[in-house]
Amino acid sequence: MKLNKDIIIAIDGHASCGKSTLAKQLASTLGYTYIDTGAMYRSVTLYAMQAGLITDHVHTQELINELNKIHIEFRYNAKLQKAETYLNGKNVEEQIRGMEVSDWVSPIAEIAEVRAHLVHLQQQMGKNKRIVMDGRDIGTVVFPQAELKLFLTASAQERARRRFLELKQKGQDVSFEQVLQNVEQRDRIDSTRAVSPLKPASDAIIIDNTNLNIEEQFAVAVSILSVRFGNGIDCLL
Ligand code: DC
Repeated sequence: MKLNKDIIIAIDGHASCGKSTLAKQLASTLGYTYIDTGAMYRSVTLYAMQAGLITDHVHTQELINELNKIHIEFRYNAKLQKAETYLNGKNVEEQIRGMEVSDWVSPIAEIAEVRAHLVHLQQQMGKNKRIVMDGRDIGTVVFPQAELKLFLTASAQERARRRFLELKQKGQDVSFEQVLQNVEQRDRIDSTRAVSPLKPASDAIIIDNTNLNIEEQFAVAVSILSVRFGNGIDCLL
C-alpha cells in the first residue's frame, strides 16, 4: 500500500487490546518500521529485576542512577520475520513477556525519569517518519504531531481472554483470574498515573475492537489510511 506522503502512525490504547497486532500489520503493509514501546518499559523492568533494584518495592533512585547503563535495541530476525528486543546485547524477547515483568512494569512506567529517557529514544527512532509506534502516550507525548493517531480499546474481560490464550499457548502456567487482575490493575495504574496517563489524544480515532476480529480491525485501519492519505486507486494495491 502506498501513501501520498511519509507519516508517523501512533497507536495507543489499553493493555492487551491488539495494538501490536495492528501495528505490525500496518508496518508490513506500508514497508514501515514497527516500534513496540511497551517492550522498552518491559526491558527497563527486567533490568531492574536482574540488578536487584526490585525487592518488595522498586528502588527508584538507584534505578534512575543506572538509566544510562540500560541499552535497548530492536534487531530484525530474518528467520522469524520480526524484530526482537535486546537488552544490553542480550535477546530478552521471551523474558520481557512473562508474568513477573508484567506485574512490575506499571510502577516502573510511572517513574518520570524513566519515561523521559525512553521518550527521548523513541523520538530519535521517529526522526525520519515511516514508523508505526504503539504504546500509551505516543499520540499525546512522544509524537503529538503524528499524522495518524489511533486509540484502541476493548472490554477488560475480552482483553484478558485474549492474553490468557496467548500465555497458555506459550506454555505459561497462569489462571484466567490472574490475567484479568493484571489487566485491570495495569489499566488502573496506566490511566491514573501523574505522568503521561493513558488517554486518547484529542485528535485520535477511537476503535473499540471488543467485537472485531483481527482482519476486521485491520480493514478499518486501512480504510482510514486510504481516506486520509490515499493516492487514488493505487493506495489499496
Ligand atoms: O504494551 P505493553 O503491555 O507491553 O506495555 C507494558 C507496560 O508499559 C504497560 O503496563 C504500560 C507501560 N507503557 C507505558 O507506560 N507507555 C508506553 N508508551 C508503553 C507502555
